[in-house]
Amino acid sequence: MYGAFTDQALLCQAYWDQYDRAVDRLSTIPRSPESDEYRETGYKVGDLDTAWVARFWQVFPRLPRMGFAAWDSLKGYFNGSFTEQELAYIDRTIGFRLITEEMRWVVAELTEALRPEISKRLLSPWRVLNTRIWSLENHDNKDGLLYSNAWHTDGLPDSVFKVMIYPHPIGPAEGTVKLRSKGEVKLLENSAPGTWLLFESSKLLHRGVYPEDQTSQRVSLELTITRSIDFDTCVYVAGNNANYPLYPWIKPANRPVRGLPLDEPPA
Ligand SMILES: [Fe+2]
Repeated sequence: MYGAFTDQALLCQAYWDQYDRAVDRLSTIPRSPESDEYRETGYKVGDLDTAWVARFWQVFPRLPRMGFAAWDSLKGYFNGSFTEQELAYIDRTIGFRLITEEMRWVVAELTEALRPEISKRLLSPWRVLNTRIWSLENHDNKDGLLYSNAWHTDGLPDSVFKVMIYPHPIGPAEGTVKLRSKGEVKLLENSAPGTWLLFESSKLLHRGVYPEDQTSQRVSLELTITRSIDFDTCVYVAGNNANYPLYPWIKPANRPVRGLPLDEPPA
């Protein structure tokens, strides 16, 4: 149980748990072999449509690079806190991109296309809480592995999940992700032009894997999603340090896209 609710995080967790049970009660999506398999492994990998991957690569080079900032989060979201060493690591190795309006349209096509694939695994409709795009940079690992490249779980409520989109083949050469499922470490490999991965990021240990090929650039599009009473596949962008809303009834609002990389807190 949750004790005396003196800690806001625990109270929020209790609301998220109640929300998850309400979604279960209201959902009409039936169990299936796909949902049973997902429940057992905690992840599902699928191929992306080749035409969508081509559209992504048309727009990606036009996305401005952004520095990471702890304040980069909508109000009403939980944020990460970092040591100076971690912040320096993130700046050197994670090349965040500004998600422009043009890219939001591209991502919206994808969230629409993935609606059924994801809902039949989660056994409910779903909605987007946050969207981030980054590339892995400086492959030398001279500082060791930190942040999303070190083994971790995300610490999100049970009804919040990650969908990772890799718009290129994944494997040791191209860069990929490792996760621990059913007691075994899996290094995900897929030779298709693009890959989507739905996974229980707060139950399965996982970490990013740099490409062995120094000329490869592992690019990630990350959707933080939650099970939901209704579908809402709008592409919400809550910030690079926005984890999830404090309460499940907080509706993310899309921030206007600024034309320049963020380099200072908004006035
Ligand atoms: Fe993670």
